Amino acid sequence: MRIDVLTIFPEYLAPLELSLIGKARRDGLVDLHVHDLRNWTHDRHRTVDDTPLGGGAGMVMKPEPWAEAFAAVRAEGQAALGADTEPVIIFPNPAGTPFAQATAQEWSECEWLVLACGRYEGIDERVYEHLADIGCEIHLASLGDYVLNGGEVAVLAITEAVVRLVPGVVGNAESLVEESHSDGLLEYPLYTRPARWEDPAGVVREAPAILLSGDHGRIAAWRREQSLERTRQRRPDLLDEA
Ligand code: ADE
Repeated sequence: MRIDVLTIFPEYLAPLELSLIGKARRDGLVDLHVHDLRNWTHDRHRTVDDTPLGGGAGMVMKPEPWAEAFAAVRAEGQAALGADTEPVIIFPNPAGTPFAQATAQEWSECEWLVLACGRYEGIDERVYEHLADIGCEIHLASLGDYVLNGGEVAVLAITEAVVRLVPGVVGNAESLVEESHSDGLLEYPLYTRPARWEDPAGVVREAPAILLSGDHGRIAAWRREQSLERTRQRRPDLLDEA
């Protein structure tokens, strides 16, 4: 999979060199490129924003650097992947559709993603129109009902959620099957050794005996019940969908 990230803060994406994603990159499973949007400005101040037409607070990202950046990144990606390959372009945006595990799964099956980090109040609307007009698949994706300062943190989250689903990235693929949201429910509670633990307050806490029974059928049934109960308590909205 190829991923291109466009941002005015390339340093913000440094964590993509670490841990699981860093290893996936080194292993050649993900070809990830971070680009500075200001490379496609032409003035001395490398300006990417201007005041909103019609007035109002804050600044709006200018269309020209974005259009030039997309054209250049598209050409670069097509040189690597083939002239017929088109990217799926994702704009993290609090006004987008909710990003969820199913979205991560879908995007993990794409050959090429371009993640575009907006800043300030947002990007000039004509950028989206232009990209749609030239036949690009674009998505506005929201991490949740709150506002971040820009798309970079959302891109870190989206990239991690997507890349860990790329085959080969997570060593034990089984761990992807049983985790929260994989079946539409929250994950059951987890325990490890010691089975009997005296906490710092002197309270003895036993792991559920069933987990020591060796009866895999009963353990699976218990975990399913726990998942359902936990989902009912914390996220009843998910139960209707599941
Ligand atoms: N950019 C700013 N806020 C955001 C959010 N909640 N989700 C995705 N991108 C954002």
